[in-house]
Amino acid sequence: MSIAFQTRRGPLPAVRDLSFAVKRGEMLAIVGESGCGKSLTALALLGLVPPPGRVTGGTVRLEGRDLLTLGEEELRLVRGARISMIFQEPMTALNPVLTVGEQIMEAILEHEPVSRKAARDRTLALLERVRIPDPVRRFAEYPHRLSGGMRQRVMIAMALAGAPAVLVADEPTTALDVTIQAQILNLIDELRREQGTAVVFITHDLGVVSRYVDRVLVMYAGRKVEERDTRDLFADPAHPYTQGLIAAQPRGLVAAQPHAGPIGVARERLTEIPGTVPALAAMPPGCAFAPRCPLADDRCTREVPPPRRAGSGLVACHHAGESHAI
Ligand SMILES: Nc1ncnc2c1ncn2[C@@H]1O[C@H](COP(=O)(O)OP(=O)(O)O)[C@@H](O)[C@H]1O
Ligand code: SF4
Ligand SMILES: [Mg+2]
Repeated sequence: MSIAFQTRRGPLPAVRDLSFAVKRGEMLAIVGESGCGKSLTALALLGLVPPPGRVTGGTVRLEGRDLLTLGEEELRLVRGARISMIFQEPMTALNPVLTVGEQIMEAILEHEPVSRKAARDRTLALLERVRIPDPVRRFAEYPHRLSGGMRQRVMIAMALAGAPAVLVADEPTTALDVTIQAQILNLIDELRREQGTAVVFITHDLGVVSRYVDRVLVMYAGRKVEERDTRDLFADPAHPYTQGLIAAQPRGLVAAQPHAGPIGVARERLTEIPGTVPALAAMPPGCAFAPRCPLADDRCTREVPPPRRAGSGLVACHHAGESHAI
């Protein structure tokens, strides 16, 4: 899948040739610093890329259909019923003038011809499902009366109202404190185990998801730079950017010992990756990570590295595998 912004000077690519698959009950994390194209990717899965952005190529296959070919009305029916999304700020998804219960009921009634009584019962069951204490009382409450963690639970309940096959979660725990983050992650983990929901979990924080996800896709400047099984990725990250991300995680959060790659100078302390993600309009030719990469050479600045096999997955780096010698 590719996504670009339409500008007067032509299309400005934001996500390029990104491909991944998520199976039933599987949790895939998409990680990368802010500006890497994670949210655009999430939105593209639901046909929600805002103009002037546009999906310029590729497919989004779900249960035998390419969602990118569906009309707006068909897509509206798929959204919520087969694929749902939750994001960082629940208030943007919640209607401030409806009670929590009313809006979950609406979400159910939109997709199913059930009675209001049945929708109400389902809503209470959903509130209980996402561990909201005292569901009957919360049903009648307005979103602004709830804490951030509770609102996030309400948004998850709403996303689950149609029992979707896929849940896309775009940094849903970023604004929450660590304890609540863990509760929300546990909840999402439980849902995919019990209901077989496939989860695409987007985050800039590799450590947060390491305990929960099966596979990790690392994005940099709109491209996939590495995709591996979680254990494999932490044990032996192949891309210098992944090594940098892992070295930047607080110890204790990550699944395995941080790997001391060329950027992670010490196992003992946090190491920020120097520099920033390039702007879309100033994308370097060749490898986009080259300006920040200690291994960059002439070839890196000229040729975009193609993906190749690394352990259980893929890496896109001209010098992956050589970094250990440094
Ligand atoms: N409406 C827009 N117009 C132009 N560029 C945009 C717009 N929205 C996002 N971008 C750019 O697209 C890139 C990817 O954005 P996004 O998907 O939000 O990144 P992430 O979620 O990884 O932080 C960024 O460089 C961002 O600046
Ligand atoms: S291709 Fe070159 S610049 Fe890019 S990450 Fe690999 S070594 Fe670094
Ligand atoms: Mg984002």
